[in-house]
Amino acid sequence: MVAAIKMPVPAGADVQLLHQLWSKDLAREHGFEPLEIEGTLPANLRGTLYRNGPGQFGQFGRRYDHPFEGDGAITAIRFDGGRAQGASKLHQTTGLREERAAGTSLYGMAAPWHRRIRNAVRGRGKNTANTSVMAWQGRLFALMEAGKPTEVNPLDLATVGETDLGGVVRSFFSAHPHRVESRKASYNFGLTYGRQTLLELYELPDTGAARHLGSVPLAGPPMLHDFIATDTHLIFFVSPVRVNVPRMLVQVGRFDQLFQWKPELGTEILCIPIADPGHPVRFSVDAFYQWHFANAFDRGSELVVDYVRYAGFRSFNEMAEAPGTKTARDYDQAHYHRAVIDLRAKTFRSEPLSDRGCEFPTLEPGAEGRAHTRAFVALDGLRSIGAIDTTTGVVTSHTLEATAVISEPLFVDGHLVALGHTRDRAFAAVYDAARIPDGPVARAWFDHHVPITFHGTYVPA
Ligand SMILES: [Fe+2]
Repeated sequence: MVAAIKMPVPAGADVQLLHQLWSKDLAREHGFEPLEIEGTLPANLRGTLYRNGPGQFGQFGRRYDHPFEGDGAITAIRFDGGRAQGASKLHQTTGLREERAAGTSLYGMAAPWHRRIRNAVRGRGKNTANTSVMAWQGRLFALMEAGKPTEVNPLDLATVGETDLGGVVRSFFSAHPHRVESRKASYNFGLTYGRQTLLELYELPDTGAARHLGSVPLAGPPMLHDFIATDTHLIFFVSPVRVNVPRMLVQVGRFDQLFQWKPELGTEILCIPIADPGHPVRFSVDAFYQWHFANAFDRGSELVVDYVRYAGFRSFNEMAEAPGTKTARDYDQAHYHRAVIDLRAKTFRSEPLSDRGCEFPTLEPGAEGRAHTRAFVALDGLRSIGAIDTTTGVVTSHTLEATAVISEPLFVDGHLVALGHTRDRAFAAVYDAARIPDGPVARAWFDHHVPITFHGTYVPA
């Protein structure tokens, strides 16, 4: 089975490029080395952009079923006063090292059936560390939602190893921690699947030890990718994607068969007080799906939540389908929404702020938890990058040449930085955030291909 992208294909897009972004292995691993600079890098840009995603889409002659199964790779760009160095490495996770030593797949759908049974009995799986990067207390962690954090050396990208953050992480740790400035802490969650699925909540203070905040029982075993935090609440939209836990344990069938969309169950709006996690406000609304939140903030007894909304869950399968196999283009239908939750009346209303398809929303650092006026997004099936004015809905954007695509934008010191891709090479694009339509002021070029990176973080020098 070939994992291949079925992203929306805007007019003029390079279909082959979109395909290989989600299916072609990282071309070369290396430590920091000078990148070729096109244009002029801002002199004040001093720090490192870390990006994480799948870097290897199969082994031993067999392709993984879905890009989400890919072995993680981290790509970093270190900006230093007009120059840039780049590095790119696969995470040397325990599972990957075991498989390479054995010369065969030991985990996931690619493993032989007797091995899958043994893994299930022993509760073992491969932590691919392939989704995002978290910087915390000077340390760097690669995250994926079905495993614990994998610590990475920020200086040379060497894999340090899996960690439970001092005995705190009970099972899994999601790829989407969120910072709450007023509490001087970041928050995250992880699911524990069992007879009763538990939503485990974690607090990571700027100083001091991580701690487990509480456990909230969930109806059914859902897939839960992201959440958002305000000064007072942790907010989850628990969509009706249900995990087939027995199938997941024994890893039978295809990867996409582990997840089922059950719209009749609706989406649960779950608002958990940080100060009192045992007493959440929860109610259900008509089914919708979201991968990512942008921001949320308190407004009296209301919570205002910005997120990218999908009608259903087709986007998951589309990532793994060959180009041109279907006409469905769920990514085109993903819109930036603003929801208002009334905690007392238990009501939820949600309206699109823009009709432009988008994904990977981010904010200016420090704007989290406040009424922000700008969010940054990738648009048009990764062909464009831009900003949404949340007061007017106006989108300011730049569309790349047809031979290139771009990923999640991060705001850094008045600039947007994002990893872009052509067929043969990846590049870090740097935009003036006030003049996005002018195109990048500079690009720092790798001499090789880098596959899709989902999320990243920027660490100032
Ligand atoms: Fe994500």
